[in-house]
Amino acid sequence: ELSSEATRCQIVGTLITSHLIIFQSLSREELLQCLMQCDVIVYNITEHNDLIDEATWAISALHSEIEHFGSPKMFILLSTIMTWAMTKPADPPDIPLTEDDYKRRRPHPNFKEHTSTEKLVLKLGKTSKLATYVVTSGLQYGMGENIFHFFFKTAWLGELSSVPVFGPGTNVIPTIHIHDLARVVQNIIDRKPKTHYFIAVDDSKNTFEDIVKTIASTLGSGKVENIPKEDAYGTKETDLLYLSVNLQTESVFLKDRLNVHWECESGIVDNILQVVEEYKQTRQLLPIKICLLGPPAVGKSSVAVKLCRYYKLHNIDVSETLSFECTVCVFQEELLEGNEKTSENEEMLISAEAQLKTLKNNMLLNDGQLDDRHVMHIIREKLNSKPCRNQGFVLDGYPKTYTQAKELFHGQKIIEQASVRGLFFVFSPTDFVISLDATDEFLKERVRSLPQNVAEEMHYTQDEFTASLAKFRETLAEDESVLDYFDYLEIHPEHIDCENVDTVEKIIKTVGRPKNYGLSPEEMEEERKRKEDERHLQLKQEEVEKELRQRLENDKMTALLEEWNRNMAEVKKQEHELLETRSVPMRHYLMKYVMPTVIQGLMDCCKVKPDDPVDFLVTLLIDFISRVLFNNILFLFTLCHIFFTPFQAEYLFRNNSDD
Ligand SMILES: *[C@@H]1O[C@H](CO)[C@@H](O)[C@H](O)[C@H]1NC(C)=O
Repeated sequence: ELSSEATRCQIVGTLITSHLIIFQSLSREELLQCLMQCDVIVYNITEHNDLIDEATWAISALHSEIEHFGSPKMFILLSTIMTWAMTKPADPPDIPLTEDDYKRRRPHPNFKEHTSTEKLVLKLGKTSKLATYVVTSGLQYGMGENIFHFFFKTAWLGELSSVPVFGPGTNVIPTIHIHDLARVVQNIIDRKPKTHYFIAVDDSKNTFEDIVKTIASTLGSGKVENIPKEDAYGTKETDLLYLSVNLQTESVFLKDRLNVHWECESGIVDNILQVVEEYKQTRQLLPIKICLLGPPAVGKSSVAVKLCRYYKLHNIDVSETLSFECTVCVFQEELLEGNEKTSENEEMLISAEAQLKTLKNNMLLNDGQLDDRHVMHIIREKLNSKPCRNQGFVLDGYPKTYTQAKELFHGQKIIEQASVRGLFFVFSPTDFVISLDATDEFLKERVRSLPQNVAEEMHYTQDEFTASLAKFRETLAEDESVLDYFDYLEIHPEHIDCENVDTVEKIIKTVGRPKNYGLSPEEMEEERKRKEDERHLQLKQEEVEKELRQRLENDKMTALLEEWNRNMAEVKKQEHELLETRSVPMRHYLMKYVMPTVIQGLMDCCKVKPDDPVDFLVTLLIDFISRVLFNNILFLFTLCHIFFTPFQAEYLFRNNSDD
C-alpha cells in the first residue's frame, strides 16, 4: 500500500503514522538528505527486487551518518517469507517454524539477496541512535490484490470454465492481509520493541488450492483445475515462485511482544467475503444493473444487445414468448456443464429433470407459455448468478407490473445483505431503470414495415401487436405501475423518447463509463479497427457530401452567372439605345456648328505644326468660343465636358465671362 503510493508520487506523507515518509526518484544525495530528516524509514522489498539495492545503500548511508543524527531513528525493512522458503521443516514437520528457528532458515535461491539485506539491516542497528527492524511477511493479500490477482480476475471474469491451480496445489502458503501488515509496522513504530526480527503471518494454514478454490467459488462458478506449472500463462514468473512456497510458520514474537488488532487473523479463506469486496471496490469492478422497459417494438432488445456489448453485461432477455425449447436449452446446458459424474452432479441432474417436468406440465396447462411464477423463478436465478452479480445485467422488458417487480426484487435483498458480514453495503436491485417510449403511431408504423415472416415470428402481426400494445399501455396506467415501484425505491426511471434521440447514446450518457477490466488486447485491436473503419467511412461520406455540395454550388453559380450575363446584356442594350436617342440632337448640333470649326482648327494645327499642338488648339478654340458662341452656356458646358476636365472648364468659363 505504501509503495504503491510512492511509485506515483515523489514524496508521500504518512500512511501509517505521522512520522513516516517515503521518497522515490531522488538522487542518492538528495535522498540521504531527506532520510536524515525522518524519524522512521520503511523499505518494502517484499516484491520489489529493484528496491533491494536502494535499501542496502540507505541503511549503510544512514549508519555512516549516525554522528549527525539530531534524534534517534528507526529503520524498518519489510521482507518476504521467501527468505525462509528452503528451511528444513521442524521435527515433527507439522510444528510450525518460528523466529526461534531464525538461525537455520534458508532462503529460496532467488531470494538470497533479500536475506543478506535482512542481515545487514539487523547488523547496523545495534546502536541507541539507530534502531532497525526486519518484518518478514507472508504473501500479502487484500485491497486490489497483487500476487493473487490473477485468480481473482479469472474468477471474476468467468471467461474460463475453471480457475487454474498451478501444480498439485497442496503447498501451504503463509499469508497476511496488507492492513494487518501495516498494523504490525505501526505497532513497532509505537512500541519500539526489544526484538528486532518478526515473522508476520496470519494463523491460517491454507493450501494454494484452498485459496484458489475459495476465490473461485466466491467470485465465479467455483470450479478449479490443476494444470502443470509450465502452462501457467498470465502469471509473472516471480509470482509463481511465491505461489509455490510451502511453509508452516507462526508469528510468535509478534503475538508476544506487540499488540496488533488483527483484521484478518484467520486468513484469506475465512475472510474471503470481505477480501472480495475490497478487491471489487479497489479495482472499481462494480456491477452495472440496468432495467430496460418500454412498449413492444420500441427496440428494447436491440438496445439491450448494444448495451451489453458496450458495458460487458449479461443480457437477460425475457419475452413473454420464452419458448419451451429455450427453457430446455438452459437446463441442458447446465447438465452438460457438470459433466463429471459425481454424486453432486447426479443430484443436480435429477433435480433439473424434475424441474423440467414441472415446466413442461405448466406449459401444457398454459397454452405453451410459462406462467408468471416460473418465469420469475428463472429470472431470479439468473439475477443471482455469479456473472450477473459480478459484471451486472440488462434486464430486458421485465418486470412488467408492480407486483412482478416487488416479488422479483424482494428476495434478493436478503441474499445480498447476508453476503458480507461486518460490512454494510447499500443494496439496490438495479442501478438504472430506463423507460423507452414512442407514440403508438410510430410503433405501429415500425411493425408495419417488418417483413411478414419476421412479424409473425415475433408475434407482431397487426392484431397481435395492437393487442399487446394496448395491454402495455393499460398496465402502465394502473394505479401502481412498475415505474412507481422503482420510484418508491428512489431509482427514478429515465424516460427516453426513441423517436427523436439516439437511444443507446443517451443511455450511455446516463449510465456513464464502463466499470470493468479494460478491453483485452484482441478487443482493443478490434476496437481500433472498428474506429478506423468508422473514420474511413466518415471521411468518405464527408468527401462525397463535399463533392455534392460543390457541384450544387457550381451549378448554382453557373446559373446565377448566366442570368447575370443575360441581364447585363439587356441593360447594356437599353443603355446604348437610350444614349443613342439622347445624343442624336447633340450630334446634329455639333456637326452643324462645332465640327467645321474644330476640323478647321485641327487642319490649321497640322499646317502650322506648333511645338505644343494641344495648347495651340486650345487657344484657337478659346478664340473661337469668345468670338462666336459666348452666350451659349449650355454649349460651353458640353464643350468643356468633351475637351477639358471640370476644373479647367470652370477656370475657362470664369475667365471668359469676365470679358
Ligand atoms: C510492498 O510492495 C508490494 C509490491 O509493490 C505491494 O504489493 C505491497 O502492497 C507492499 N506492501 C506494503 C505493506 O506496502
